[in-house]
Amino acid sequence: MEAVSFEEVRKVYPDGTYALKGVSFSVEQGEIHGLLGENGAGKTTLMRILYGEIKPTGGRIKVFGREARFSGPWDAIKAGIGMVYQKFSLVEGFTVMENIVLSSTRIGMDERAVRKRLDYLIEATGLKVPLDQEVSNLPVGMRQRVEILKALVREAKVLILDEPTSVLTPLEVRDLFKVLRRLRDDGLTIIFITHKLKEVREITDRVTVLRRGRVVGTHRTEEVSDVELARMMVGREVLFQLSRKKVSPGRPVLKVKDLWVEGDDGVWAVKGASLTVREGEIVGIAGVQGNGQKELVEAIVGIRKAQRGQVIIGGEELTGRATREVYDRGLAYIPDLRPVGLVMEMNLVENVVLTRIKEFSSGPVIEWGRAREEADKIVKSFNVLVDSLNTPVGRLSGGNQQKFMLGREISRNPSLVIASEPTHGLDVAATEYVRKKILELRDSGKAILLVSTDLDEVFQLSDRIAVMYEGKIIAEGPSESFSLERIGLLMGGVRA
Ligand SMILES: Nc1ncnc2c1ncn2[C@@H]1O[C@H](COP(=O)(O)OP(=O)(O)OP(=O)(O)O)[C@@H](O)[C@H]1O
Ligand SMILES: [Mg+2]
Repeated sequence: MEAVSFEEVRKVYPDGTYALKGVSFSVEQGEIHGLLGENGAGKTTLMRILYGEIKPTGGRIKVFGREARFSGPWDAIKAGIGMVYQKFSLVEGFTVMENIVLSSTRIGMDERAVRKRLDYLIEATGLKVPLDQEVSNLPVGMRQRVEILKALVREAKVLILDEPTSVLTPLEVRDLFKVLRRLRDDGLTIIFITHKLKEVREITDRVTVLRRGRVVGTHRTEEVSDVELARMMVGREVLFQLSRKKVSPGRPVLKVKDLWVEGDDGVWAVKGASLTVREGEIVGIAGVQGNGQKELVEAIVGIRKAQRGQVIIGGEELTGRATREVYDRGLAYIPDLRPVGLVMEMNLVENVVLTRIKEFSSGPVIEWGRAREEADKIVKSFNVLVDSLNTPVGRLSGGNQQKFMLGREISRNPSLVIASEPTHGLDVAATEYVRKKILELRDSGKAILLVSTDLDEVFQLSDRIAVMYEGKIIAEGPSESFSLERIGLLMGGVRA
């Protein structure tokens, strides 16, 4: 039986962006259906339409054979659609139970019925959660489980997951997949968006590829190879192998000595971290999100104050200096939170000038012509999907924002590059491009500090690896000295 069928779905956003150009395919009941496509292909747009958040411009959607005309998410929920976003919508100060009860009683469910159904679900699905704990104490993987449970308690029959694994550790991913298989076997229909072909292979039964607002094809996963999927996504061959030259590292460019940094909540986020990054070397920091990586990087680049310790760049102590001064010493910083690096209301040209004003001004005058040429170069070489350089950056899809920011930072010829999750949310082609660029930078003698929760990425790029856990670097050494399993364990705080 068809759970969902999309028929010629079109979407034109108010600003004229033609995001979906007649999308038709169907999702069978009881399957895990992968939705794949390069950045800006229209995946999130299509799912937001299915979830009733935005209205299509044309076409039809049928849910279990009935035409769906949703005027908001509540309608979609009542029709059996559930959606788990990357950014969770949980109330921090509430317990797990309170969160679930709140979200279900809001749609008119009886509290007793909710509790009963919850007990049953936890038993049947293996989605174990600590019901009496406050959400603020839970790790990301646990929060995601709560979100899934929320949808199931509301009797979702179709569950949409938009890039659910990007925030998880390898162990959490394994657990999630176990649960998803079980739910599928019980008849739940799951739409699973990801950029990782490995995951498509591992978890999906069928897969649909979108490209620039159109369906390229739907296949049984076992009948299509990774190379074919990648080609369908980006319209050309993608290489999966990166070559790395042997480079002997030079002088230290970045030295961090016994750094202590407070988090937003006033608790120590970094507890005495020390590390050195030399010319021609990539040092990768592996770790589960939230173990102090963010605060460490922010203290290095001067966005956050370090309470103790030293940051030395190019032999000069810069602890506590303003970001602008650190930039002037040849830093390129690629933050994982795009709003930090881009101003959404500004267009592409203005965003180039934003962090590179020195390069594009003569005296007090900004040379807009040259800045425009640079923006154009970045758009072309990083394959940023955008109609005009005058478009506000906020209208680009997540992945395209990331590509643009990376291009801007990498093109400034820095001596030190600090990259946090540089390929987060990027499609295969863009990921390949960015990783190649980072290796080229290293080969040309730059010092690179990479922070990534993607272990494959850490291994593929790093010369040395440091594992961060609860604010401390608990292991460090040449990449060859680590196995994937050992890093996975270290990321979870297991040292033995
Ligand atoms: N609110 C909006 N207003 C205007 N255009 C938008 C809006 N949201 C998305 N778009 C555009 O619609 C297109 C599809 O975006 P969408 O977010 O659906 O892509 P995606 O496939 O989810 O990409 P990604 O892999 O980067 O998440 C893109 O060109 C994007 O710039
Ligand atoms: Mg998306």
